[in-house]
Amino acid sequence: MEDGKPSQTALMVAMLRARHYLDEPEPKILRDSLAKILGGAETDQDVSAYLGRIHQAFSALSDSDTATKFVQQLEHSVCIRARLVEEELAAGKMAGVTQHVILGAGLDSTAYRATDLVDGIKVFEVDHPASQKWKRENLTAAGVEIPGNLSFVPFDFENTTLAEALDAGGVSKAEKTVFSWLGVQMYLTDEAVKATLGVLGGFAPCSSLIMDFIMPDYDTATASEENSVEDLRKIVSGMSEPFLSQYSVPELSDRFLQAGFSACEFPTVGDFAERYLNGDTSRLQMNPLANYLAVARV
Ligand SMILES: C[S@@+](CC[C@H](N)C(=O)[O-])C[C@H]1O[C@@H](n2cnc3c(N)ncnc32)[C@H](O)[C@@H]1O
Repeated sequence: MEDGKPSQTALMVAMLRARHYLDEPEPKILRDSLAKILGGAETDQDVSAYLGRIHQAFSALSDSDTATKFVQQLEHSVCIRARLVEEELAAGKMAGVTQHVILGAGLDSTAYRATDLVDGIKVFEVDHPASQKWKRENLTAAGVEIPGNLSFVPFDFENTTLAEALDAGGVSKAEKTVFSWLGVQMYLTDEAVKATLGVLGGFAPCSSLIMDFIMPDYDTATASEENSVEDLRKIVSGMSEPFLSQYSVPELSDRFLQAGFSACEFPTVGDFAERYLNGDTSRLQMNPLANYLAVARV
């Protein structure tokens, strides 16, 4: 991230969630009714105009049709990952989860929107201080109240003191926790990923982590996906947020086990089409066999 500046990729993914909420036909994967205002967009047209610029940037690297498909893929992938966290929270509540820690929260709106899911749960948004400051300004400008069960924990993952930051922020290792870490791994070094997993793996048994990850190019499912990931690499580098690490499924499994997690799963895009879209894989424009999400359990 550019020094002192908030995350530009956080804005991009919020605008993708906003588009999904505004225009996606039913069944929608996610209903992020706050994404638009948290991203500072005043009108629906502002969302379209922003995404038009993202589309143009992808088109410049490939062609308009490929860019359309890829922006759609990105939208669906950010909605699926957020929905998966909502499901984990719903299940966790029944299983005695008392904390939800959102690592690299960006403009995540769970605490302000999905209040039934986090009722009785303490929510902690951990993020880079510059991104967190910007989000808090956007919340104030949009008139969104900070819920009483939400705390902000400023933190830079490239620092080595996550355990201390969580402790100082009031997060208890002894409590069953659902962690989300969405759209962050790729912007961190392997050292920072390992250090973070090491802290999370020490939490109470049955705590869980949902994260997405970038695979090495040679492991992506098709040549066109390979090109798309390559284009995304260029776009986010242009936003001063280059990809710094990548993992194959076996490599990430190893990281989880070394960090103290007892189990992990890697659901496929096809699994999500079954769960969220009545099996209609054609809506996703993604390879049904592709992996990009992991669920790890302590
Ligand atoms: C693509 S955004 C994802 C935001 C959110 N999780 C979502 O899915 O909407 C990446 C997030 O990672 C955070 N981030 C990136 N590098 C970081 C670092 N070194 N320390 C703390 N946060 C970081 C950014 O501030 C930003 O909020």
